[in-house]
Amino acid sequence: MLQEIQEQFGYIPSEAVDWLAEKLKISKQEIYGVTTFYNHFRQNPPGKHEIKVCLGTACHVGGGEKLLDTIEEKLSIDSGETTPDGKFSLERVACVGACALAPAVVLDEDVHGRMTQRLLKRLLDKVQKEK
Ligand code: FES
Repeated sequence: MLQEIQEQFGYIPSEAVDWLAEKLKISKQEIYGVTTFYNHFRQNPPGKHEIKVCLGTACHVGGGEKLLDTIEEKLSIDSGETTPDGKFSLERVACVGACALAPAVVLDEDVHGRMTQRLLKRLLDKVQKEK
């Protein structure tokens, strides 16, 4: 049911948690326990642009954490959050299937491999300038 809610809204709204708790006759805390345990579930609405930083083994070894730090600092959000203007949301993910191109960052549907902090800042600047 949580997956269907997320498919419909893009995240798990608190109103949906209230509704589900009443329907299943369980506490809201039990539902939040599930949604916060699994990274798959979003607590906030997704941004217009979704950034996923791969922290699978190859990308982690290749500097994925530094890339994540770069984005968090530049956008002033932590992973799992959306910028106040709704333009970007940020997630940390496991392998995205591009290990040969590690470290990889996925922006919307595009995989950007062999990413560096400099290239990443340039990519974010480009997207930020878009209307
Ligand atoms: S570990 Fe990052 S793409 Fe495989």
